[in-house]
Amino acid sequence: MQISVIGSGRMGSGLVKTLARVYSDLLWVGLDSGEVVHKIRDLGLEGRVEAATHVQGFQTDIVILAMWHRDMPAFVEQHRSQLAGKIVINIANPFTADFNDFTTPWDTSAAEEFQRMAPEARVVGAFKNTFWAVFDDPSFPEGEADCFVTSDDADAKAIVMKALSGLPFRVLDGGSLKNSRTIERMTLFSREVAVRYGFYPRVTWRLLGQEKRENRKVRYLVTSTRTAQFDPSYIPAHYAFLNHLQDEGRIEFYGPFSDQTGGAYLLDAASLDDAQALADSDPLVVSGSSSASVKMWTTGRR
Ligand SMILES: NC(=O)c1ccc[n+]([C@@H]2O[C@H](COP(=O)([O-])OP(=O)(O)OC[C@H]3O[C@@H](n4cnc5c(N)ncnc54)[C@H](OP(=O)(O)O)[C@@H]3O)[C@@H](O)[C@H]2O)c1
Repeated sequence: MQISVIGSGRMGSGLVKTLARVYSDLLWVGLDSGEVVHKIRDLGLEGRVEAATHVQGFQTDIVILAMWHRDMPAFVEQHRSQLAGKIVINIANPFTADFNDFTTPWDTSAAEEFQRMAPEARVVGAFKNTFWAVFDDPSFPEGEADCFVTSDDADAKAIVMKALSGLPFRVLDGGSLKNSRTIERMTLFSREVAVRYGFYPRVTWRLLGQEKRENRKVRYLVTSTRTAQFDPSYIPAHYAFLNHLQDEGRIEFYGPFSDQTGGAYLLDAASLDDAQALADSDPLVVSGSSSASVKMWTTGRR
């Protein structure tokens, strides 16, 4: 996988610094290649990043356009044939020069406009909410900065998400290209508020409290309640039953209630019926000493 960055301004420099942590064959394209060579030297990235022409840049797998939205029409006209079939990351925010408004109507975004201008390109939106100063250290006390990846081309999005996965960002699927409208607008809002409170430009987003899907699991919460016929002589058999389930890795927690009315355990089972059948095979339940009620419980860590 080879990546090129076109544009040698603040975002281009930040992206190159970040990508060079993972990639050792980056190409960096600027309008002035001599200036790019100097920047590579100043950043201490010789050997990992090479100054390149636009033609060379378009030969890589992924091209990141670190340029302004207003420069895109001329760029597309000039490179139309090279854009065909190419995965292109659009990071542009269509802000007015005074950062007070948008140059695009509300029913579109810079990413969608780029796709409209270059229909043959495989356009992916990313890094729109990442202000340039964040690239120096995308880690915040709350966690890594979020990088939302949008596209209408599912394969292109998956390739980009994989390519960015080693970077010090939390790379999230941002859905369709249309969602760039929201991201671009939220970015201008974030900028305004961050400037007001004095923490611009080291400002980005992280969606807090998001549950990690991979941690979500359906389990069964079994509550065992003593009946009027409770017979303590069945307690050893009950614990043998629970120990056996634990040895099989089928229960995570179990224990008695402190008020001596029964107990509960968290069971791994194929279905609610299976869980109920298993709970009903507890010697305490079979003997009529306790009754078991089972609830399906989707558990997760935050
Ligand atoms: N700044 C941020 O924090 C931030 C955050 C998120 C997204 N963005 C987006 O990132 C993009 C770049 O922002 P920036 O702050 O990096 O702007 P910048 O510092 O002004 O850099 C823009 C760069 O694009 C270059 N460029 C223009 N046309 C080009 C072409 N045809 N080929 C190669 N390079 C070309 C410019 O070269 P010259 O200087 O030689 O003209 C300049 O180096 C913008 O679309 C912006 O909305 C910025």
